[in-house]
Order: sequence, then C-alpha cells, then structure tokens
Amino acid sequence: SKFKVGPVQNIQPDTFIYEPEYRVFVVRDGNGAFYAISAICTHLGCNVKWVDSSNTNDSSVAIACPCHGSKFNRKGEVIEGPAPKGLQRFHVELSGDKLIVDTSDIVSEDEMFLKV
Ligand code: FES
Repeated sequence: SKFKVGPVQNIQPDTFIYEPEYRVFVVRDGNGAFYAISAICTHLGCNVKWVDSSNTNDSSVAIACPCHGSKFNRKGEVIEGPAPKGLQRFHVELSGDKLIVDTSDIVSEDEMFLKV
C-alpha cells in the first residue's frame, strides 16, 4: 500500500498528480507543502475528479464526484453531500528526493501536510 512519487523538485506548487492504481491524488499546495488524499468518494465509492485546481479557498469546490454530485475542497473536506465525510488523507514522508505515500496510514487534517 506504499508508493513513491517524485522527484519532489519536479512537482510545482498548486499542482497535483493522480495515481490511478492507488486512486490517490498527491497534491502540492501553494505554500509548497505536500499531501495525499483518496479519490474514492465517501458516498458510494465512485472516483472523484479534480474540477478546479485553481480554487485554493477552503470554501470553494476543487473536487467533485460524477455519480451523485458530492463536492469537496482541495483538502478533501465535504462542501456538498451526499458524501457523509471528507476524503481520506494518507501519511506522506520524504525519502531522498521522492515522496512515499502510505495508503494504510490514514491521518488527520493536522497531520496531513509535509513541508519539504
Ligand atoms: Fe460520490 Fe455518490 S458516489 S456522490
């Protein structure tokens, strides 16, 4: 359940990488911090889509589910249901110049950001 992404210097701020095999978005925010969130909708498990990566405000929609219309901000928090809770966040750590994402290690919002 671990995978590598990088090198980190090739990932620009305010961009993300989608890993289809793991259904995970690896995001670099505008401050340069990294985090990883699940692309599996917490309603019935459809794949959510990134609809507007320029939306950096916590109250604006960045991610949406095509199945029943749930909407999330760029940190994966629910803005509009029917999704009952936010997208899962995974532990990210640095190893050399690569990120290692561990999808078996679910973290809270406080623990989700990796500053490099
Ligand atoms: Fe995403 Fe229903 S599965 S809104």
